[in-house]
Amino acid sequence: MPSAALNIITISFLVFIFISILISVNLMKYIIFNWKSYLNISESMNLSKVVSKLPSTKKYKLISSPNNFYNLTLKSRYPKNIYAAQNVDLHGKGASTGSIDIQDLVSNKIKFCIIGHSEVRSNFGETDLIIQKKTDLCLHNKITPIVCIGEPVDIYKSKKTKNYLKKQINKIFKKSNIYNEVILAYEPLWSIGTGLTPKMSEINDILQFLTKILKNYSFKKIKILYGGSVNLSNIKEILSLQKLDGVLVGSASTKPSFIKYFR
Ligand code: PGA
Repeated sequence: MPSAALNIITISFLVFIFISILISVNLMKYIIFNWKSYLNISESMNLSKVVSKLPSTKKYKLISSPNNFYNLTLKSRYPKNIYAAQNVDLHGKGASTGSIDIQDLVSNKIKFCIIGHSEVRSNFGETDLIIQKKTDLCLHNKITPIVCIGEPVDIYKSKKTKNYLKKQINKIFKKSNIYNEVILAYEPLWSIGTGLTPKMSEINDILQFLTKILKNYSFKKIKILYGGSVNLSNIKEILSLQKLDGVLVGSASTKPSFIKYFR
C-alpha cells in the first residue's frame, strides 16, 4: 500500500479515537453520593468497598462524599475511589477551632468539595457571599467545587424559581473571573429529603435556563447536576435528560443497592 494512503488511514484512525474519547468524556454522568452524617465509619468503609468493586466505566464518574471526619481514613484505605469533602472553612490553619482547612484536602488528594449545601446554609447560616469565597478558595487550590443552589417551596409555588436562581448565581460567580472546572448542583430545597421531585419537564426547563445564563460567565468546564430525592425508581428517567451532567444523591446513596446501579 502506498505510504500516502497509509498515512491517511492512520490519521483517520487517530481522529476517530480522539473524537470517541471526547464524546465519552462529555457524555460521562457525574454521580455524587452525599452520605451527609447518616453513616458511621464502618458503614462508610463498607459503602466505599462497594464503590471500589464496581468495574470502571466511561458512563459514570462516581464521587463519594462521606462525613468529613472519615474522609482521610477512607481515602487512604481506598485510594482509587474519588472523594469529596462536604464542606471547607474560610479560616484555615492556626487558631481556628473546629475548622476544616483546605490544605488538608489538598494534601490528602480530596479533589472535590460540596459548597453551599442547603443544610449547611440553614444550619450554619452560610450566605451566598460565603459560598462565593469558598468557591474561589477551592478553585485557587485546584479543588473542584460542587456548588449547590436551589429555591425554597414558596418561591417554587409562586413560579419565581428562575429569578431566584439567577440571583444566587450572580452572587456566587463574578463575570470578570475565569473559572476552571465547576460543578453546579441544582437542588430545589422542597425536594431534598422529601420524596418529592420536580417534573422532568421542569428540570429540563431549569437546565436550559441555567445553561443560558451561565454563558454570561467564563467557565473552562461547567457541569450541571440535579439533586433532591433521587432514588432507584427515578434515577433512570432523570439521567436520561440529555442536558443533565449527573446527580447529587443523599439518603438513597447510603444503600449498596443504589450504588450497584452504576456497575
Ligand atoms: P436527598 O438529598 O437525595 O436525600 O433528597 C439530596 C441532597 O441533599 O444532596
